[in-house]
Amino acid sequence: MFNESIIETFRQIRTPFYYYDMDLLRRTLAELKALTDGYGYTVHYALKANAEERVLREISSMGFGADCVSGNEVKRALASGFSAEEIVFAGVGKTDEEIDFALDAGIFCFNCESEQEVAVINELARAKGRVASIALRVNPDIEANTHRHISTGKADHKFGMSESEVDSVIDRLGELEAVHLSGIHFHIGSQILELDNYRDLARSANRIQAKFRAKGVEVAHINLGGGLGVDYFNPDKHPIADFAGFFAAIHEALDVLPGQKVHFELGRSIVCQMGSLISRVLYTKSGAKKRFAIVDAGMTELLRPALYQSFHRIQNLSNQTGVGMYDVVGPICESSDTFGTEVMLPETNRGDLLAIRSAGAYGQMMASKYNLRDEAKAYYSDDLAVENRGRGVAVCC
Ligand SMILES: Cc1ncc(COP(=O)(O)O)c(C=O)c1O
Repeated sequence: MFNESIIETFRQIRTPFYYYDMDLLRRTLAELKALTDGYGYTVHYALKANAEERVLREISSMGFGADCVSGNEVKRALASGFSAEEIVFAGVGKTDEEIDFALDAGIFCFNCESEQEVAVINELARAKGRVASIALRVNPDIEANTHRHISTGKADHKFGMSESEVDSVIDRLGELEAVHLSGIHFHIGSQILELDNYRDLARSANRIQAKFRAKGVEVAHINLGGGLGVDYFNPDKHPIADFAGFFAAIHEALDVLPGQKVHFELGRSIVCQMGSLISRVLYTKSGAKKRFAIVDAGMTELLRPALYQSFHRIQNLSNQTGVGMYDVVGPICESSDTFGTEVMLPETNRGDLLAIRSAGAYGQMMASKYNLRDEAKAYYSDDLAVENRGRGVAVCC
């Protein structure tokens, strides 16, 4: 992924920083677009994965919608070219202020996660003389075979409504005059690679839809959420997620009524592989049991390894010779500030540049100020390539 010229450019930029490969993003979007057009599916990009304006503009320009989980994400989506009619708003804890804002903006749909929330949206919409379009997020109590912190579809998770709560909302629909039930919504987790989990989800959706119909309720759309995983181990071999397998599995297993639309909320699978966190080795040292490479990026820039013990491939961009085993750790005063343990790398020295790969999703977005760290900047391949070609490099400080 990194040629000599881009590595030379990296050398002149203050580390740590995020690097986004915009060509890869465009190739990913083109493949996704061709498939969704073919199936007639709608994708709302999940902003929580990466809400950098340049990234969002690229995605909105392809005609995709947005999936937001806060009022500020709705604002960012609107400011980045997504049309209100393509925005869904999810989340277990929407505030009245956020709901009011989204109602005024005229978004496509609120994905509701409790009966109380439906009643509040009804009240707030009624006060404005509006009718809010809603979908009920059902907790289907199914396995996602992913890390327990990013699994969201089991009965003991806080997300979605139990089937009995859904029944209760449906029974009350007659009195909820300021909401219109337009969809059923699911999201069972993230970084899911087992397509059978999606077949199970589609079968659950079929069963729940049959229950709705038995009560005389038909919805205009089914939203199956996001969650498609990426290959963190081989980002260069699999730079684009298996969208084809994913949509084929859904197409095969999901019952779709005539005229009904199928929606998705993909995040990670769209933006993960385009991003790398570029960092410099500050020190190396041999502890009693381990050799450490201490880098200038920390859990403040990329929280996932500390939060979920997630794997990211680490590449030495400065040296390809020799070999050694290192724990690659950051400067933050926490033992969990570790990007990888027992990582085989070329001989690694002070000043070497390391790329922490597959960091485009849930990377920059989860950054924090802990230890009063400076915010890592983002650089885009489009700019670096241009500057590399002609006018020298934009060096930051
Ligand atoms: C409701 C909802 N939709 C979509 C997503 C996006 O998931 P992913 O980035 O795994 O595609 C999430 C992520 O947690 C979510 O909570």
